[in-house]
Amino acid sequence: MNLNISLLGLQWGDEGKGKVVDYLANDLDAAVRYQGGHNAGHTLIVNGKKIVFHLLPSAICHKNIKCFIARGVVVSLDALFSELAEANEVLGDIEDRLIISSACSLIQPYHIKLDQLREQSANLTKIGTTGRGIGTTYEDKVGRRSVRISDLYDESKLNDKLTQALDFYNSIFEHSFGTSKIDLNELIDLNLKQAEQLKPYVGNVIEEIRELQKSKKKILYEGAQGALLDVSLGTYPFVTSSNLIGGVPAGVGISPSDIDYTIGITKAYTTRVGEGPFPTELFDDMGTYLAETGGEVGATTGRPRRCGWLDGFLLKNMVKVSGVDGLCLTKIDVLDGLEKIKICNAYSSDLTEAEMIETMDLELAQPEYLEMPGWSKLTAGQTSYEELDDNAKSFVEKIEEISGVPVIMISTGPKREDTIIRKDI
Ligand code: IMP
Repeated sequence: MNLNISLLGLQWGDEGKGKVVDYLANDLDAAVRYQGGHNAGHTLIVNGKKIVFHLLPSAICHKNIKCFIARGVVVSLDALFSELAEANEVLGDIEDRLIISSACSLIQPYHIKLDQLREQSANLTKIGTTGRGIGTTYEDKVGRRSVRISDLYDESKLNDKLTQALDFYNSIFEHSFGTSKIDLNELIDLNLKQAEQLKPYVGNVIEEIRELQKSKKKILYEGAQGALLDVSLGTYPFVTSSNLIGGVPAGVGISPSDIDYTIGITKAYTTRVGEGPFPTELFDDMGTYLAETGGEVGATTGRPRRCGWLDGFLLKNMVKVSGVDGLCLTKIDVLDGLEKIKICNAYSSDLTEAEMIETMDLELAQPEYLEMPGWSKLTAGQTSYEELDDNAKSFVEKIEEISGVPVIMISTGPKREDTIIRKDI
């Protein structure tokens, strides 16, 4: 039985993970976020009201599911409290089903300030970050100087850490960017005040997850962003600052061998926000069509998403490195009505495929496409694979052939019931 399920986007994020979580929700006991922070964004409709969560697991809107924010997540308490206020209003009290690890690193105001200053600087490579201090907080985590949640409850340790941090950051703000400094006393006060508000949610995630595992509960490890944004295996340096691939064990505190099944998610085409290479990007009317039909606007920053054809070359390789067992294909309905559909299955470049995957330096990659006929019968709202147009089935089966794994789930529209299940996991 699959009890520990990992859910991973295989592109540059925004593949529609919320839809899969929604679908699995009735069977789940727990959901865990293990990396990233409030750079993610999932739009949920609860009692007819649209809400966007960035930090809380998207499973939080299902009252039967216990939710965890594990040690691999970087936590902005401002973002957390505003989401908690909204969640408590729309979902009722969630205090008894949300646990946040005391080992999480905190996003401080100086992280956000530096992230934004760097992005605005004409002299530095623009990554197109969400400007939320994600990368700068992970830098401090790796640099062994993070303020972790547990530090909030040890006043002298908190004072020391924030003093050291501001010595460092204020010097950068003043001398490198000629901008104002952050006041130490105000920062300490803010941290202490927030510590009290946070207290009811802080807990021991490793122990709680072990207990759930012992009692054979179903746990979903919910990845944010997508594999191509992985700091190690993605399109470096245009990536986020956490490991999505293989990130669950270190980000939660479970064994790699605990994971029973990994679901990879891919859209039927590709989108990206922020800077960086995107070999199948479309700059013509087709790109605009995909953006408009797919409603491709970033949930966190409101930036328009760049759009292009499905990149089977990258999909195949991301499936390989992340140990995906089955695929969920989302937004197939966006391709309804197109005469021809393309899938990139190789690149022409001076580099070999292996060389390209090693560096993920895709700036010069020229996509080679296979072209498939579109389908006349709409996939939108379909719930049965058998009922799909033969050309739509061929498209799905081509993705299986390229990726080497079965498509177990197809999303045919935004509603929960707009789903085809081909294999129940
Ligand atoms: P950061 O994570 O804010 O540092 O941004 C680094 C890169 O990851 C930028 O290209 C962002 O646009 C991208 N990114 C971060 N979070 C998401 C997400 O949830 N969806 C899509 N792209 C994201």
